[in-house]
Amino acid sequence: MSLFTREASSFFHTYKRLPLQIARGEGMYLFTADGTQYLDMFAGIAVNALGHAHPRVVRAIADQASRYIHVSNYFAQEPQIRLAELLLRHSGTARVFFTNSGTEAMEGALKIARQWGSGRGKTHIAGFSNAFHGRTYGALSVMDRPAYRDGFGPFLDNCDSLPFNDSDALRSAVGPQTAAVVLECIQGEGGIRPVTAAFVDTLKELRKQHGFLVIADEIQTGTGRTGRFLASEHFALSPDIITLAKPIGGGLPLGAILGAPSVADVLQPGMHGTTFGGNPVACAAGIAVLEEIEERGLMQHATEMGNLLLSRLRDCSSAFPKLCKEVRGVGLMVGLELTVEAEPVVAGMRERGILINGTDKTVLRFVPPLIVNAAEINRTVDTLREVLSGVSSF
Ligand SMILES: Cc1ncc(COP(=O)(O)O)c(C=O)c1O
Repeated sequence: MSLFTREASSFFHTYKRLPLQIARGEGMYLFTADGTQYLDMFAGIAVNALGHAHPRVVRAIADQASRYIHVSNYFAQEPQIRLAELLLRHSGTARVFFTNSGTEAMEGALKIARQWGSGRGKTHIAGFSNAFHGRTYGALSVMDRPAYRDGFGPFLDNCDSLPFNDSDALRSAVGPQTAAVVLECIQGEGGIRPVTAAFVDTLKELRKQHGFLVIADEIQTGTGRTGRFLASEHFALSPDIITLAKPIGGGLPLGAILGAPSVADVLQPGMHGTTFGGNPVACAAGIAVLEEIEERGLMQHATEMGNLLLSRLRDCSSAFPKLCKEVRGVGLMVGLELTVEAEPVVAGMRERGILINGTDKTVLRFVPPLIVNAAEINRTVDTLREVLSGVSSF
């Protein structure tokens, strides 16, 4: 029986698996069991910032695993503390709480907002249309996409999803009752859609007026992907709470909630907790990722490579005006919106040895490891042009 038949007969059918059986990865490449090589331009959904099997990450995991793998949060652990210090320094925040995943970081962030608001008569939390914050109830409660929510209600009370980038709608929905507004500065699963500067200005003005918290979901945008440590830096937005995950555990499950001084004292002993969150092996891997990003100047590199990718995709887009609608993104978080479904194009790329993925139905998403080089970007766009040339025959 093939791996895929066994999967289909044993799993809840939540995932549409790709028809590849991965044997190993190295740097920018994945290799299947039959030895075929794939250029990985999607990095395990924006996770593998240093590519696959990076020696520094592998060594950090092995070293920490040989010391201790789990002791519980009864103990202060050196890898956790060191990673927390690095995250605080990069983000300019004051407090950290580690989780196992992005969605758990969102749950914790929403709990902090509710706890902060409870003594102030503020319970309302607003998110935005087309956002993605995860699959747990808090996250789903501030989202609107039927694909993620249908049939799973009822959701949390006093939560809204407002039209993204619509200042008037924001003005009429928030007020003194609002505890927090939750946003992705660049919507990832929603199709690589950046927030507008005008919308951020309105958000800042309303925050001053009503005194609510701003929660920035930087799970996909954060940790250097956009050329800055946080995407909110591009918009001069200082969030009260930031959520991180994806690359911060070097591929191991790890998320984090970062809190500004405004929320530093909200959580007191026993109010929130986790058995596995902040696992020391994941934290050791995370330290290796952050140190490598810093020492190798990978944020600057992400800016340069992102600019190359954007400009090459824009040229490609003008060459295929009937198929390409818009190129968007910052740094190495880039999307090309097509006028047709993304999936056949993604499959065409895969047949030619390049992995990207599609999001929001018609958007090609490029979120490669931050170590990607110019030759790999050129090869990706050259191949895309070849695939788009044949699109009418799909
Ligand atoms: C912006 C954003 N928030 C939250 C999540 C949820 O993270 P996780 O899948 O680790 O729970 C994701 C995952 O794709 C994401 O992109």
